[in-house]
Amino acid sequence: MGLTDQELRGLAAFNDPGRANCASCHSLTPGEAGYPLFTNFAYDNLGLPANPENPYYTMPKKWNPDGAKWVDPGLGGYLKSAGYDEAISAAQLGKFKIPSLRNVDLRPSADFVKTYGHNGFFKSLDEIILFYAWRGLVMNGGLGLGGMGMDCEMMGGGGMGGMDPAMMCNPNLFPPPEVNQNLTPMNHFNMMDQENILLFLKTLSDGYVAE
Ligand code: HEC
Repeated sequence: MGLTDQELRGLAAFNDPGRANCASCHSLTPGEAGYPLFTNFAYDNLGLPANPENPYYTMPKKWNPDGAKWVDPGLGGYLKSAGYDEAISAAQLGKFKIPSLRNVDLRPSADFVKTYGHNGFFKSLDEIILFYAWRGLVMNGGLGLGGMGMDCEMMGGGGMGGMDPAMMCNPNLFPPPEVNQNLTPMNHFNMMDQENILLFLKTLSDGYVAE
């Protein structure tokens, strides 16, 4: 069965370097078996907030000496522990590997809550897609490419593409990044693209069963 018109529009926005540009990282290049893997295996810091519900924060001092102040250093922390010098590891602080998006919406039942991001901060695909679009607008100074060159001040009350400007321009819509270094700039994309991308991601469940 092919994709619906809306799912195809989602794929187009996913691929478009001037809109969501997801495919620049979640690549459609086929892997060995001839199917897209939806990752280029690189590492980035998207600026995900810390997840206060992470049980690691309250683990005994023996395991977590920093307690609630602990910050996940990502790839940089690994490199440091592997003996790389400060300059090399500091440039990778806060970066995490780009995950595949295959089966990203696959869940045992429709009401099963799946978490997204390395620390499970996001509790739905809608939420992480909103985060990307918001970051493209607010954290890049409000001039994400897919925002058609508009910034939050110019947008006033009218909105565009069904977007709620007050929400999208609120710098506190999400908490600050856990690691505020090495942040990757993102594009903004409008609400219609957000909805279509969500529908496209839901098509990536493949029904594969281990033999
Ligand atoms: C600059 C590279 C980059 C771009 C562009 C990008 N992503 Fe990601 N994506 C990542 C990285 C890195 C992670 C893991 C981040 C983390 O956990 O801190 C991720 C995680 C995700 C996840 C969570 C998957 C899981 O199983 O937890 C989803 C869903 C996702 N991306 C969808 C998208 C969509 C949709 C777009 C386009 C709007 C997009 N990404 C654009 C790099 C990228």
